Amino acid sequence: MIDVSSLRRSYTMGGLSEQDLCKKPIDLFEKWLKEAIDAGLYDPNGMVVSTVNKEGQPHSRMVLLKNYDENSLVFYTNFGSRKAHDIADNPHVSLLFPWYFLERQVIFCGVAQKMSMSESLLYFKSRPRDSQIGAWASHQSSRISARSALESKFMELKQKFKDGEVPIPSFWGGYRVHFDSVEFWQGRANRLHDRFMYTKNADGSWNYERWAP
Ligand SMILES: Cc1cc2nc3c(=O)[nH]c(=O)nc-3n(C[C@H](O)[C@H](O)[C@H](O)COP(=O)(O)O)c2cc1C
Repeated sequence: MIDVSSLRRSYTMGGLSEQDLCKKPIDLFEKWLKEAIDAGLYDPNGMVVSTVNKEGQPHSRMVLLKNYDENSLVFYTNFGSRKAHDIADNPHVSLLFPWYFLERQVIFCGVAQKMSMSESLLYFKSRPRDSQIGAWASHQSSRISARSALESKFMELKQKFKDGEVPIPSFWGGYRVHFDSVEFWQGRANRLHDRFMYTKNADGSWNYERWAP
């Protein structure tokens, strides 16, 4: 066994003080996202989506953030996937950005809502053609017999859609997560990290509190 108990480091890259906070959490998120991009992190828009199924079992997986605004974050997926089934039973999700190379994490909590096909289509059209075909080829989260089955399905669909635009599959599209809390975490020395928790008020404004790390 690898002795993981001794793997640790001190977090010394920076701090997060009240002066750094913005009125709206999305403005601080955008600043940190830009810093993650500028730092050359792989998949800076990768976020861990956690869902809970109707038995109360949580599941987490990575997806890519594809759009955002003041109140919501958007990702795209297969509507037949395990996460989609979980969301249909329980729309409460958390979205975590694991920017630990910058000694940071940001965690959004909120409610996921399926986007309309016309809204999803705008993004689908912007995807590379082979990714569009890939969306058709994979019935995400269902059992398959072998990788070759997936590859032959892809080739078959490439042939089928060889002329003209690839249509959007009815089983594929976006979720918009309307968030009502956002936590910003910045690692500090001696495990005395900085944590600020924003929560949304009924009138749409935001409060924040410093939380113990
Ligand atoms: C970096 C990265 C990005 C990913 N982006 C997406 C994505 O945007 N949408 C998606 O459906 N799956 C994405 N995946 C795959 C998911 O993590 C997951 O395997 C898939 O969505 C099936 O999850 P489920 O069975 O829990 O529904 C990504 C995986 C990684 C590692």
